[in-house]
Formats: sequence, C-alpha cells, structure tokens
Amino acid sequence: MTTLLNKTTQSATPSKSNIQSKSQDATTLLRADHKLVSGLFDDYEKASTKAMKKKLVSEICMELSIHAQVEEEIFYPAVKHALKDHELVPEATVEHETLKSLIAQVDGVEPDGEMFDAKIKVLQEYVKHHVKEEQEEMFPKAKATKLDMMELGDMIAARKRELMADRS
Ligand SMILES: [Fe+2]
Ligand SMILES: [Fe+2]
Repeated sequence: MTTLLNKTTQSATPSKSNIQSKSQDATTLLRADHKLVSGLFDDYEKASTKAMKKKLVSEICMELSIHAQVEEEIFYPAVKHALKDHELVPEATVEHETLKSLIAQVDGVEPDGEMFDAKIKVLQEYVKHHVKEEQEEMFPKAKATKLDMMELGDMIAARKRELMADRS
C-alpha cells in the first residue's frame, strides 16, 4: 500500500466504477467530517425533544464510527509509515478506543435525563480535543511528506461510501 501512496509512483486510482464525486485531498475530506460532527453536536445542544436528540446521537455515532474506521484503516497507517511515527498515530489510536467506548454508552440508548446529556457533552469535548491534535499536529506533518493526499483522499472516500452503504 505504501508504494501506491507515494507521489513518485504513478499508480492507478481505486478502480471502483461507482465513484463519481470529485476527488478531495485526504485532510480536506477528514476536516469536512470533523466539521460535520461538530455541527451535529451543536444541534444536539439546541435539540428540545427526545426524538430529535436520539436522531442526532445516532448520526453522530455513525459519522464518528465510520470516520474513525477509515482513519485507522487508511490514513493512520499511511501517515505512520511516511512520518516513521511512533507517537502521534499510536496516541490517536488509543483516543479512538476511548471514543468508541463513549459511543457504545450512548448509541441506541434513550436520551433520558442529565446523565445522558453529560455523556454527550463528554463525547463532544473529547472529540474536540482529538480533532485539534489531528488538525494542528498530524495533518500538517502528513502534508509535508511525500504522501499523495489526493490518492489517499480517493481511497478514504471510496471506503466511506462502502461503510455507509453497509449501514443503510
Ligand atoms: Fe481520529
Ligand atoms: Fe479525525
């Protein structure tokens, strides 16, 4: 996989015929995911009914789970290899584990009372911290390597579509 991602190698982009959307740089795509989830958390704060909260939580959990999965399968290994990293990626991976355990506590659960709201708040704060580290440390370092961010973006987008389709 690593040779596929090197700018010096002119390899074919993923050969899925159903990819029609325009290509996006990997970090641009991941930043857009971060922004989307941050907006969903903002909506949760404003939500006034249990039904609205439940729907938002379900979207948040799905978006976060798929995002974490594509980072772990595609982005993190590529970055780890390119940076010869032994710190940023392992730390981010551990943070994903914590995120997943928080997600498991709220996904599909009835939004009932202050403890539920507190769990969402903690998840929101935790995501914010994790995103800040990715955007301010990992992404700039990754972009300074020879990684082909457009190709990586295509691979991430394709995998996201697969995972979304599995859930629908
Ligand atoms: Fe992440
Ligand atoms: Fe991320």
